[in-house]
Amino acid sequence: MAGRRRTSVHPLSTRSLRAAAARLRRGEVVAFPTETVYGLGANALDASAVAKIFAAKRRPPDNPIIVHVSDLKMLRKVARGVSPRAKTLIARFWPGPLTLILSKKSLVPSLVTAGLDTVAVRMPEGIARDLVAAAGVPIAAPSANVSGRPSPTTAAHVAEDFPGVFVLDGGSTKYGVESTVVALDPPRILREGAIPGDLLRKMIPGLRLPASSGRLAAGGGAFSSKVQRRAAQSPGMRYVHYAPSRPLILFLRKDDLAAYFASHPQSLVLCPTCLSSLFPKQRTLALGASPEGIAHGLFAALRTRRRGSELLVLAIPRRGLGRTIMDRLTRAATRIV
Ligand code: TXA
Ligand code: MG
Repeated sequence: MAGRRRTSVHPLSTRSLRAAAARLRRGEVVAFPTETVYGLGANALDASAVAKIFAAKRRPPDNPIIVHVSDLKMLRKVARGVSPRAKTLIARFWPGPLTLILSKKSLVPSLVTAGLDTVAVRMPEGIARDLVAAAGVPIAAPSANVSGRPSPTTAAHVAEDFPGVFVLDGGSTKYGVESTVVALDPPRILREGAIPGDLLRKMIPGLRLPASSGRLAAGGGAFSSKVQRRAAQSPGMRYVHYAPSRPLILFLRKDDLAAYFASHPQSLVLCPTCLSSLFPKQRTLALGASPEGIAHGLFAALRTRRRGSELLVLAIPRRGLGRTIMDRLTRAATRIV
């Protein structure tokens, strides 16, 4: 079509899924929905294809990428020495939003793992798993956002960050937050995610949860050195994350939030149902009633284009999925009050 650019967003169909798989096999980059967030994928066994992901995202080269597999045969291609403990977690949570840190096989280019001798692997659900199976190769895929931006939960978010990249559109993602990343030796959570840590702990007693971000303890400012050391185990956690479309203030107390809003009526409140009676409807971004609902709408709210001076949000209890939500809010916040 002369003079008109074809849209890069392709609604999910048998045909578009096959087209995406063919592109992946050719060494191209494709964005696709997973059950957590959209991923920006490439053939994990092809270093030059994976290099395109780092370039597009402007991702620091020392931040390794998760490899997505469609079955256990593919897992054995990329990882070795899968321990009984890992097998237990795999049996319970795969396909699903759990990423395991395993010993890497040499077939995986060191670019994927940023030179580490471990590889992060997960078997996603649904469309993503179908796509990996159709491609027939493991797919390396970080979240499909430019580094530092909120993870994308719709195809439109991906197109915002990567105009022109082929995006398979499967609607908004089921969980809305990324997978939980677990290392096994010793057992510890490197990144909290869609599977709550306490659920994993029931299966692996002694599994260590990450310390709460030091910013809360310190009342804002830089991460504590303890948190920084721990975060360095999952390299991606070191970097600036989830920068919202405008300043985000995280309030620890409801009264402080209400008082701030009263003097800043042009701000927008990220609003779980329990708070919606406190603010005028046109000044709120509804987040739903449960932690699941909040997780689902959180990243879209951080990307909002609605008019408003600042985004305001109230802390939620650090229980279950609430821990993951608080981790993301703490990283996204410009200020914690
Ligand atoms: O839900 C998800 O996990 C999404 C979807 C697309 O699968 N992916 C995702 O990828 O969130 P990304 O790149 O945004 O985050 C991957 C995290 C980073 O913190 C990275 O440092 C860590 O996993 N990681 C990857 N390989 C690792 C390894 N070998 N050892 C420790 N951490 C690793
Ligand atoms: Mg990411």
